Amino acid sequence: MKTFEQDLAERRAQHLYRERLILDSPQATQIHLANETLLTFCSNDYLGLANHPQVVAAFKAGADRYGVGAGASHLVTGHSRAHHALEEELADFVGAPRALLFSTGYMANLGVVSALVDRHQIIFEDRLNHASLIDAARLARAKVQRYAHADVAQLQRRMSAQQAALITTDGVFSMDGDIAPLSELYHLATAHGARLLVDDAHGLGVLGKNGRGSFEHLNISWAAPVMLMGTLGKALGVFGAFVAGEVALIETLIQRARTYIYTTALPPAVAEAVRASLKIARAENWRRERLQSLVAQFRAGAAQLGFKLAPSITPIQALIMGEASVALEASRRLRAQGILIPAIRPPTVAAGLSRLRITFSAAHEAAHVERLLQALAAIKPA
Ligand SMILES: Cc1ncc(COP(=O)(O)O)c(C=O)c1O
Repeated sequence: MKTFEQDLAERRAQHLYRERLILDSPQATQIHLANETLLTFCSNDYLGLANHPQVVAAFKAGADRYGVGAGASHLVTGHSRAHHALEEELADFVGAPRALLFSTGYMANLGVVSALVDRHQIIFEDRLNHASLIDAARLARAKVQRYAHADVAQLQRRMSAQQAALITTDGVFSMDGDIAPLSELYHLATAHGARLLVDDAHGLGVLGKNGRGSFEHLNISWAAPVMLMGTLGKALGVFGAFVAGEVALIETLIQRARTYIYTTALPPAVAEAVRASLKIARAENWRRERLQSLVAQFRAGAAQLGFKLAPSITPIQALIMGEASVALEASRRLRAQGILIPAIRPPTVAAGLSRLRITFSAAHEAAHVERLLQALAAIKPA
């Protein structure tokens, strides 16, 4: 058997070794490390709410009222008025009858899929789905068929041949920033009697005039059999996740989703913080408008520099670099110029498609994008 040291050394040699930064400051466009201040383009704090004073105040008030820990799972005594109110507000936000909180998006995906699908059933998954959806299907021990990215025609052919229980897809793909063909997937699911789970971790709060996410962007209203998973630690700036859908789905998850049942509830103060951030996210359209203008500025500038951009209108903009070593080197050279954009490498993305995953936040300003473009100009391959 390989020792840990051998395995780690191999990873290092393949440029796949991961290291953590230690932040001494809140999540913001500028972060402070021990000896460095960096302009970041890599958080998922898309609306700039992770350190918003009203959200912080709501968190503190929540801790004053409820203490710091939920103390139990939701089904025992962990489900507070704050959790319940947040569930109602999230359901109203996305336009579904009910919502159920989970501690993380990862757990929500595991919980839904393993509660609803068993080893005799088939799940169709987009090839670029997030790891949590892939792991969810594994946990359910379902028969998994991965279709080519966003390839509805291929999916349709396969669904005509085999009865599927579930289709799963990211709403906005986390490493490329493109949006799933949700209308077509919805029609396929309904035509074949399957359910559709949409993980809108990167769409919620960001897309659509009111921030309701990928569905709103595509002018589609929620309808059964869609199950919508949204996270609370990205655009909403806090922590946690929810699943929204029909009443009987939510009741079923309360009975059957193991990652809901067998875990401590989120701290109620976290729920209070999300309630505050949701109010801001709903009211302040300027945050979404700012994001759009930053993305447009970046895309125009990067195209002018000769970078090949993936087709994304979202705050996730991928610059494909190729080999892991090339992406790492680009990231290092940006860091030397005071800009933080980690290299995304296998297994997060396919071999040969390592990239700089650039993300924008409403807290960025046009001058920040200008600085980024100047730094990219300096590292551009000849
Ligand atoms: C598409 C997608 N789904 C789910 C998750 C997991 O959400 P969480 O961080 O709340 O576990 C992430 C990222 O974290 C994600 O990018």
